[in-house]
Amino acid sequence: MKTLTRICALSLVLLALPAFAKEGVTNPTVKARMDVMQVIRGGMATLGDMASGKATFDAARATEAKTAMAAAAATIVPAFQAPETDPVTEAAPAIWEKFDDFSTKAESLVTAAEALNTASLDGLKGSLGPVGASCKSCHEAYRLSK
Ligand code: HEC
Repeated sequence: MKTLTRICALSLVLLALPAFAKEGVTNPTVKARMDVMQVIRGGMATLGDMASGKATFDAARATEAKTAMAAAAATIVPAFQAPETDPVTEAAPAIWEKFDDFSTKAESLVTAAEALNTASLDGLKGSLGPVGASCKSCHEAYRLSK
């Protein structure tokens, strides 16, 4: 059962990985917040690949990815503070109607990223689920799918 829960958590993580960076964004503030998300995605890809066995587990690389992701997560709130828009943005206007809730969701990613156990493969597998759940929870509420 525990293994099943982990496998489910893991597929959730992988499903939460969005596809590509937005082409043609012109507003620099919007570009900057997308870049924050891309750093987060990069960390998640590294960790997800290790957790799923697609890449060999490497504690030093995993810790590096964790650190980069946690640091970027801590900049979500300032990066999204200004209600800037762009023709290609996927940010939902609700972000600025419920900025407190958005900030709470950003904070939960910081917490989940900091709690990642990158000392061992089992530790990583057991702690990656909450990170993926955090991406999903914020994207469902505040990211428009186009
Ligand atoms: C607090 C909310 C929040 C959290 C947590 C969050 N995201 Fe996002 N993410 C957004 C919003 C909003 C956008 C749309 C930004 C835009 O288009 O202006 C976005 C966009 C993205 C993009 C597309 C960036 C681009 O270049 O267009 C990627 C990739 C992404 N998120 C990955 C992740 C991953 C992976 C996680 C979890 C590890 C995560 N996000 C957690 C809110 C969040």
